[in-house]
Amino acid sequence: MASIDRSDPVILGHLLAEHRDLFNLIQTVRTAFAASGEPTSDRRTAIMESLRSLRCHLHDHFAQEESGGFLEEAVTRIPRLSAAMRSIIGQHPALLEELDGIIASLESDPCGPGTWAAAGRAYGGFADHMTAHEQRENAVVQEGYCEDLGLCE
Ligand SMILES: [Fe+2]
Ligand SMILES: [Fe+2]
Repeated sequence: MASIDRSDPVILGHLLAEHRDLFNLIQTVRTAFAASGEPTSDRRTAIMESLRSLRCHLHDHFAQEESGGFLEEAVTRIPRLSAAMRSIIGQHPALLEELDGIIASLESDPCGPGTWAAAGRAYGGFADHMTAHEQRENAVVQEGYCEDLGLCE
């Protein structure tokens, strides 16, 4: 058993809180896109600001996960989770590219007919991919701690 020098519920709680913050940012953009009709200039500005803010937050979140932390610690505890963890971390570049593509499409043709509707649909796909990604992460980390502490059935 790996040495435990921190309270596991605290570690798990921290990860879940980070994912909740990220989820809230993702939902903020989803709501901004969801308003009906062609967006006004103010709404376009608000959507772009929230997209860029999300992009910045996501980059930092991924960098933190990749530089060791909850995920690495879960693998240290339960090495057989290593492959699942590598697979999850490996999704980060594609997720960032997906979001970058949406931002780039809005920047390159902000007044094009249907640009915002198409970006809104693309964003819905991105949000679904992000949700699935974070759920996989939570599951692996929970499995790692649970098994290490002998809490699993
Ligand atoms: Fe991640
Ligand atoms: Fe994450």
